[in-house]
Amino acid sequence: MFTFLPMKVSVSRKEHFNAAHRLYNPLWSDEKNSTYFGKCANPNYHGHNYELIVTLVGEPDPETGYVYDMKELSELIQKYVTSVFDHKNLNLDIVFFKNLNPTAENIAIVIWNILRQHINSKLDLKIKLYETERNFVEYPAA
Ligand code: NI
Repeated sequence: MFTFLPMKVSVSRKEHFNAAHRLYNPLWSDEKNSTYFGKCANPNYHGHNYELIVTLVGEPDPETGYVYDMKELSELIQKYVTSVFDHKNLNLDIVFFKNLNPTAENIAIVIWNILRQHINSKLDLKIKLYETERNFVEYPAA
C-alpha cells in the first residue's frame, strides 16, 4: 500500500551562467594567497561555466499538483541570479563579493539568500552549484 503522508516532493530547475573570479584573501600576502589558492589567485582572474540547480521542497498544491510552477522558477532564477551574474566578474561587478571571497561555497550562500526573499517560506530552498564538472557545493549542507 502507498503511504500518503508526508507528501513532500522536491522539484529542481537547472540554469547556467558564466562568470570570472579570483580567490583571494586581502588579509594575506600575495605569496600566501598564491600558495593556498594556486592558479585561482591569479590577479587577472579566470572563468567558470557554473551549473546552478535550485531545488524547492514542499507539498504538491491540491489544485494544480505542482509544488511550484517550473516556468516561474526558471524566470525567478533568471531575473534575480543568472541575469545578474552571467558574464560578470564576480569580484568586481557583484556587490556581495566586495568583501567576500567568491568561492563556490560563498556563491551558493549568496544565491540562496537572494532567492529566499522571493519564494514562499513554506517551501524549503536548496542550492547546488557546480563550479566544474567534478566540483560542486550544496547549501544548506546536504
Ligand atoms: Ni575558480
